[in-house]
Amino acid sequence: MNTLTVMLQTEYDINPIQIQSKQGGWASLAFEIKADEAVYFLKVYEKSRASTPKLTALIDQYVPIVEWIERNSNLKGRIPVPMQTREGNYKCDDEENIYLLYPFINGQTIGEWDLTERQTEELAHIIAVLHSFDEEIPFPTEALIEDFEVPFIRELEKVLDYREEDVPEELHLFLRENRERINKWISSVKELSTKLKSFSLNRVLCHTDLHHWNLMQAENLLLIDWEGLKLAPAEADMMFLTSEPYFMTFMKVYRQYHKNYHINEEAITFYQLKRRLEDIWEFIEQLLYEKVSTKDKDEIIGYLKGLTEHEK
Ligand SMILES: Nc1ncnc2c1ncn2[C@@H]1O[C@H](COP(=O)(O)OP(=O)(O)O)[C@@H](O)[C@H]1O
Ligand SMILES: [Mg+2]
Repeated sequence: MNTLTVMLQTEYDINPIQIQSKQGGWASLAFEIKADEAVYFLKVYEKSRASTPKLTALIDQYVPIVEWIERNSNLKGRIPVPMQTREGNYKCDDEENIYLLYPFINGQTIGEWDLTERQTEELAHIIAVLHSFDEEIPFPTEALIEDFEVPFIRELEKVLDYREEDVPEELHLFLRENRERINKWISSVKELSTKLKSFSLNRVLCHTDLHHWNLMQAENLLLIDWEGLKLAPAEADMMFLTSEPYFMTFMKVYRQYHKNYHINEEAITFYQLKRRLEDIWEFIEQLLYEKVSTKDKDEIIGYLKGLTEHEK
């Protein structure tokens, strides 16, 4: 019997009839699991991936909050909650992987598609409700509080200071072209980080990864992939939306819930630069520390070039 079958039986009491590999996200593998009683979506984080520890560290902190929000707001059916194992845990693991199991969402990932007006309004509703929760929620939140630290910057700076023989050729060529620009962004992020630490911005629950690959249309619009849940200024979410063509429509609905909300531009810039640098760092990390095929290497360099095309 294969490992997944055994894991599903022992941890979840589920007897799979069919296990099918699916297109996952950037960070995880995915499987559709058919069983007699239901269909499930299994998310698999490989322990060999450099990004896994960071992405899975807070599962036990954030999942109970997501579950609680789903129950205690009108977001029922709009956010997927991982299933509990026999022992009542939201994840389980073996030598190789960390697993999360969800009810399968029978729907379409938005991905490359634009949002319709209806979808925009639904998204605005989800985010506005999410942002109505703050540190008053009945859970320990220390681990989720935004501190405006940018922990990966140290490592990124070290790599930018590399010796040529220590990095793969294609990374060297990329860094030669882009090092100056990346260093400029690092300085700006550090400056903004210091500044934001001294402001007392309101913190609310934020998803922090609001792109269209984390939106699915089933009976209604669903927001998935809650690993980034944080107590942070609303800009941690707004930064994904300000340049969208539907931003005005979004804000019209959002302001019905948050009348006095004003965007803090410095917080938006901080999050946008931080995200760009983090993406750059994660791709560099993959090139440096993971086994990647030549084809994947070219793809990663392509992404890196796309990320450094910004002027500011
Ligand atoms: N419960 C689900 N049912 C069906 N498909 C899903 C489900 N959750 C995620 N997906 C699909 O898998 C993709 C990756 O899932 P996601 O949770 O975003 O993983 P990652 O953290 O790797 O980005 C999504 O873009 C979506 O297409
Ligand atoms: Mg995702």
